[in-house]
Amino acid sequence: MRLHDIAVVGASGLVGRKILEVIQERKFETGKVVAIASDISAGKELNVKGKAYKLHKLEPHIFKNLEFAFFSAGGAVSTEWVPRAAAEGCIAIDNSSAFRMKEDVPLVVPEVNRQDMFKNKGIIANPNCSTIQLVTALKPLDNAFKIKRIVVSTYQSVSGAGHKGEAALDYEIQNAGKKAEAPFPHRIAYNAIPHIDIFFDDNYTREELKMINETRKIMNRRDLNITATCVRIPTKVGHGESVNIEFDKKVSGDEVRNVLTSAKGVTVVDFPSTSSYPMPIDCEGKDDVFVGRIRSDDSVKHGINLWIVSDNIRKGAATNAVQIAEEYVKGK
Ligand SMILES: NC(=O)c1ccc[n+]([C@@H]2O[C@H](COP(=O)([O-])OP(=O)(O)OC[C@H]3O[C@@H](n4cnc5c(N)ncnc54)[C@H](OP(=O)(O)O)[C@@H]3O)[C@@H](O)[C@H]2O)c1
Repeated sequence: MRLHDIAVVGASGLVGRKILEVIQERKFETGKVVAIASDISAGKELNVKGKAYKLHKLEPHIFKNLEFAFFSAGGAVSTEWVPRAAAEGCIAIDNSSAFRMKEDVPLVVPEVNRQDMFKNKGIIANPNCSTIQLVTALKPLDNAFKIKRIVVSTYQSVSGAGHKGEAALDYEIQNAGKKAEAPFPHRIAYNAIPHIDIFFDDNYTREELKMINETRKIMNRRDLNITATCVRIPTKVGHGESVNIEFDKKVSGDEVRNVLTSAKGVTVVDFPSTSSYPMPIDCEGKDDVFVGRIRSDDSVKHGINLWIVSDNIRKGAATNAVQIAEEYVKGK
C-alpha cells in the first residue's frame, strides 16, 4: 500500500479540520501530514479525532515532495500559494474560488465529471458548497431528461462563512439578538439575509454568479439557463436549496425519484405522509446529498420542483476534496 504525503492549508479552520477528519474516516492512507495555518497559529497543536498535528506556517519549499496539498484558507492565500504548491510538484486541491473558472483548471465533483480532473496542470478546484450539492443531484437528471432551465433559491447555513459565521450566530443568540460585528451585513439570528458575498453592478451577488457559472462548467452545459438567489439563514450546518427545473420533455415526479434513487452520492428522502424530507439538522455529519419534496410544477411546460440539502462542510467542501484525491490516486 502506498502512503500519501499531504499538506492541509487552513487546517485549523472549519473546512481544514474536516478534511483531516474525513481523511481518517475514509482511510485515505497518509504518510506525512503537514498541517498549516496562519502565522498566529504556527507552533500550536491541533487535535483532530485523537490525532495531534503541529501547525506550521506557509513558507517556500513546504510543499516539496508532497503528493497533494488541500487548500482551505481563503482566496488570498490560495491565489499566492496554490501555484507555488503546484510548482513544487504537488497536486493542489483548492477550496477557494480563486481558480475555479480558469479554463485550464478542472472544477470537479467526482460523481459528475470525474474524468475532468486528469486534465489538470497541478491545480484542481473544488466547487462552491451550494454548487456541489446542486450538480450532484441535477446531473443524473440532465443525463436522463435534459434540463432546459433551473431556478434555484438557497437557504445557506452560517458555517458557510467559516468559524466566524458560527460564532456570530452563537453570540447573537446569547446576547438577545444584538448584532455581532462580523461576518454578516445584518443580524443573522432570527433573520434571513438575501445577500452572500459582494454585489455586482447587475444586482446579483458573487455567490449567485458562482452557482450559475460553476454549474455550467461542471455539467459541461455552457448553454444552460440558470438563475439563482442566495440567502443566509440562521442554521448552523447544512445548506438547503429549493429548485425549479424545466426539462426538454415531459417528466413525472416518479421518474425523477427513480433516477435520483439510483444516483451516486444522492439519498432520496421523500415521504410527505410521514413529514419526511431532508432537513439540515438530519444531514449534518453525513456525506450524501439529500433530495425530497419532488413534485410536478404545472405552471410551466415539463416542470419539476424539488428540495436539496447537504452538509456544506462535508460534501460541500472537505469530503468532495478528499474524494478528488482518492479518485486521482485510482487513475483514469
Ligand atoms: N465553510 C464552508 O462551508 C466552505 C465551503 C466550501 C469552501 N469553503 C472555502 O474554504 C476556505 C476556508 O473556509 P473555512 O470555512 O474553513 O474558514 P475558517 O473556519 O475561517 O478557517 C480559515 C483557515 O484559514 C487559515 N488562514 C487564514 N489566514 C491564513 C494565512 N495567511 N496563511 C495560512 N492560513 C491562514 C486559518 O488559520 P488560523 O486558525 O491560524 O486563523 C484557518 O485555518 C475558504 O476559501 C472558503 O471559501 C468554505
